[in-house]
Amino acid sequence: MHILVTGGAGYIGSHTCIALIDAGHTVVVVDDFSNSHPESLRRVEAICNTTIALYRGDVSDAALLQQIFTEHKIDGVIHFAGSKAVGESVEKPMLYYRNNVTASQTLIETMQSAGVHTLVFSSSATVYGDPHTVPILEDFPVGATNPYGRSKLMVEQIIQDQAVANGQFNGIILRYFNPVGAHPSGKIGEDPNGIPNNLMPFIAQVAVGKRPQLAIFGGDYPTKDGTGVRDYIHVCDLAEGHVKALEALHGQTGSHIFNLGTGNGVSVLEMVQAYAKVSQRPIPYQVVARRPGDVAQCYADPGYASVTLGWQATRNLNDMVASSWHWQSSNPHGYREA
Ligand code: UD1
Repeated sequence: MHILVTGGAGYIGSHTCIALIDAGHTVVVVDDFSNSHPESLRRVEAICNTTIALYRGDVSDAALLQQIFTEHKIDGVIHFAGSKAVGESVEKPMLYYRNNVTASQTLIETMQSAGVHTLVFSSSATVYGDPHTVPILEDFPVGATNPYGRSKLMVEQIIQDQAVANGQFNGIILRYFNPVGAHPSGKIGEDPNGIPNNLMPFIAQVAVGKRPQLAIFGGDYPTKDGTGVRDYIHVCDLAEGHVKALEALHGQTGSHIFNLGTGNGVSVLEMVQAYAKVSQRPIPYQVVARRPGDVAQCYADPGYASVTLGWQATRNLNDMVASSWHWQSSNPHGYREA
């Protein structure tokens, strides 16, 4: 298949380009590089020994999308492009509704006029809010607590409405748990701008000596060791989940929702210990107050994706940490030159 990948230079996008190419598909990327670097795609090209058609621009640019759909016969779209920092979304909600909601609407409208019917959407387990119990099933109640989460929920609803109205449309909503790790080559990985918001890139930067210590947000949760529990999933497993979803559901219609997680809950302290062991570096930490909006536990029931898509995560915590460390220690400045 020929797949348009929006945000294909980003962390999950670049790994998914590799998974698609490895599975025999071709990719076209559109990215504005607002939170990514063109170097990631050059490295994807080197890893896969191929060239990738790249359009630099914004998904809310309907004329650019039309040009792409005219110049390439696209079978489906994987839509990663968007903004993803919870704190920033509270400060700049309109930016989040524009980048995440308005842009997605433009994409869906342009797909319809171009006769492209299959859309895979990058959603998040954040749409479950504070789950009443774990593991989380796809039919659990949804409800977001910040503009970022609401923007994801709104796009999910737009996709579901479009599937009702347009009998040819095929909307595949993937709710990611916590993607971590990197490609085994160590050539591509997560490269956040500024101070990382998320746990794994923060730990990686402490291990490599860029930051003095980790602040653990809360040691008094009702969990196995008092720290927050999450479902960390290797980004290569997540990437393969997109390929499986496209292959299994291409040609179908309607809307479909899948959790992409491992089903295993790992605490912050367990992650710190695993990283210290693999990197052979100390990870100094201090337990501080809870971060507002955080939940105690969040992990998936991944059974529906397994049964329906024939996909399940195969990489373990050691694979996640070892690949993260390989990337971080060989690229201490990410894609920027030292
Ligand atoms: C966060 C977002 C979520 C988003 C996801 C994307 C928040 C509140 N939630 O999820 O909406 O979809 O990232 O990947 O931002 N932790 C620390 N110290 C740190 C960083 C994190 O102790 O410096 C802890 C957190 O309290 C949490 C765990 O590590 O228990 C994971 O945090 P994080 O990586 O930010 O992911 P989520 O909060 O699950």
